[in-house]
Amino acid sequence: MITCIDTDLLRAASLLKNSEVVAIPTETVYGLAANGFDAQAVDKIFKVKERPSFNPLILHFPCKKSAMQVVDSCPSWAEQLMNDFWPGPLTLVLPKKSNVPSIVTAGKNTVAVRVPQHRVMLQLLQMLEFPLAAPSANLFGRTSPTKPEHVFQDLKGRISYILDGGNCACGIESTIIGVGENQEPVLLRPGALDVQLLENSIGKINSYTVKHTHPIAPGMMDQHYAPSTPAFLVDDVSDYLTAKAHLKLGILSFESREKLDGLEMRALSEKCDLKEAACNLYARFRELDVLDLDIILFEKVPHEGIGVAINDKLTRASKSEVELQNFLKNELSITGRKPL
Ligand code: TXA
Ligand code: MG
Repeated sequence: MITCIDTDLLRAASLLKNSEVVAIPTETVYGLAANGFDAQAVDKIFKVKERPSFNPLILHFPCKKSAMQVVDSCPSWAEQLMNDFWPGPLTLVLPKKSNVPSIVTAGKNTVAVRVPQHRVMLQLLQMLEFPLAAPSANLFGRTSPTKPEHVFQDLKGRISYILDGGNCACGIESTIIGVGENQEPVLLRPGALDVQLLENSIGKINSYTVKHTHPIAPGMMDQHYAPSTPAFLVDDVSDYLTAKAHLKLGILSFESREKLDGLEMRALSEKCDLKEAACNLYARFRELDVLDLDIILFEKVPHEGIGVAINDKLTRASKSEVELQNFLKNELSITGRKPL
């Protein structure tokens, strides 16, 4: 199959109406979309992505009114969030109506809904009579795409069309809020929309704490966003820089640092800006991942605002501290060099 990247909305709409999958732009990351009311079309998303079917999908709508067609009941705080933050990078998980195919929700009685804030995506949604089910347009477990070329790298030959909407403005996935046992709002996934802003609108939002073996938002699974190169999250990269003698080392820091010989250094932000850092995050993962490095060290970003979501992604893309120590020990026995 030949994979095209282009800006033809009519072509994208016509493929989707014919139960095909199409990669589409959103303000967060690129999605792999299909008719959310057509179980066979949605099944193709899981096949193309190699995504396990227990992981439910988000339904994307052009407006709040259309999203309400699939929602059975909605606490008043959720309605408030829709009014204040849609269109935007906010997903709400709410009790579903029976018109949602169970493949979309992985058999759950809730559905994830979102009105995205991307001009091209909104135009496309307005041309369709159904919502678009769409996970991020990457192979399962890999880094989410924030440019059309990223989608092409992962899915070429697997899909026929990538609708080009430029680079994603946010660069990390939407923030997900669900309903707790007492009908209260619960943060299921930190993301592009700062939780503080949501709290300014509706009051305190607690984070979901893991009580079950199956996470209620499987995006919270470990290792979900990982580059293929082993990556480790550290407080201060300077502690590890002596490793450069025998390891091909990549560094991903928040701000630009002084360049060090023999190291591949990348910064998330030129201007010490967390929004810019979020926007660049996945592109930097990909840049470092093709350099054939032995390891990548991530440095934590300031833990405030969307820095919380960025640190969450960095943590999930990293191996544990124990694995880092083991990794370094094994490397040393291979190279016979001095311990760090
Ligand atoms: O920004 C985004 O949210 C992007 C763009 C394309 O909209 N989409 C995205 O989709 O990140 P995905 O599939 O990679 O992540 C959706 C998350 C998953 O962690 C899934 O488990 C959770 O939403 N989710 C979906 N339906 C759910 C439900 N009924 N209950 C709990 N979690 C749900
Ligand atoms: Mg994803």
